[in-house]
Amino acid sequence: MILAEFLSQLAALESAASPRITAAESLDAWTEVRNALVGRQAGEFTAIMNALGELAKEERREAGQRANGVKVALEEALETRRAQLAAAMAEQGPTLDPTMPARDRWRGTVHPVSLVIDEVVEIFRELGFTIALGPEAEHSWYNFGALNFPADHPAMDMHDTLYLGSEQVLRTHTSPVQVRTLQQYPPPVRILAPGNVYRRDFFDPSHAPMFAQIEGLVVDEGVSFADLKATLSHFARRYFGAHTRTRFRPSYFPFTEPSAEMDVQCGVCGGNGCGVCKQSGWVEILGAGMVHPAVLEAAGLDSEKYTGWAFGMGPARTAISRHGIPDIRVLYDSDVRFLEQFGR
Ligand code: DAH
Repeated sequence: MILAEFLSQLAALESAASPRITAAESLDAWTEVRNALVGRQAGEFTAIMNALGELAKEERREAGQRANGVKVALEEALETRRAQLAAAMAEQGPTLDPTMPARDRWRGTVHPVSLVIDEVVEIFRELGFTIALGPEAEHSWYNFGALNFPADHPAMDMHDTLYLGSEQVLRTHTSPVQVRTLQQYPPPVRILAPGNVYRRDFFDPSHAPMFAQIEGLVVDEGVSFADLKATLSHFARRYFGAHTRTRFRPSYFPFTEPSAEMDVQCGVCGGNGCGVCKQSGWVEILGAGMVHPAVLEAAGLDSEKYTGWAFGMGPARTAISRHGIPDIRVLYDSDVRFLEQFGR
């Protein structure tokens, strides 16, 4: 290497450097250009300097001075560009907006049907009722036989009931818990049995093949229909409001005699008639009745000594009429946007 060549390489680097430095539009690009030019490992300036030792001794002084001048010029140009980029960024403001609201933290809520169950259970707890549970896969004797269903009752039909083999069924109601409880505990009995039940129904806006029920049962000596009426009317006033009116209509269930259905004056229209109550002014809330003597006997109790009353309600129906929900299926969708509206 001769001095002339060394100097011409330095000059070429210096003149090529300045457009490259001004072309850097970001601090990242600037860093890349700086490393390419004056980087200690692989910088182009360093590569030229490595040839300094190949020059004749008397040429090195001039070469070194010139190289130093180029280095200072490169560093000044780089620093100027860096300052420009930093100033532009400062003017633009931070890319993170500290005034942006934080994302809401999602918290689980109680399902609207569970909410109804909790509230109903709470009201009956005040009256001395405790909770009893039974299996969802139930023996057909508990589901039908012990509850006085006649052998040819259509509810036992394969088309209405989900059988698990010949004797086991997915319980079609929570009433079998009545018999299981009476077999296990001597009267006085006051229980509430919430739980899921299954029917071979289509999944449509008003039906689901699985839904919740709440069963109630009272058995003791001297229990009468007056207790049934008074207790259920009290429940309706506690649940729907102090001025809520109720009415009992005669009905039929194999496991109660007499049987009734309880209606509550429609809370949406106040009894004037609306879409929720189908213009009748009343909403059906539950089925009830005096426990049939055959049920008491099936559970091993003396029906001459003991009497009782029972009811069954569907909390999903209550949730639907309370919130004006048009399609029962939203209760099963697990759509957080729907469910989180019901948080307590
Ligand atoms: N088990 C009935 C059903 O699923 C509801 C019912 C009606 C339960 C009257 C009762 C009752 O305890 O007394 O349709």
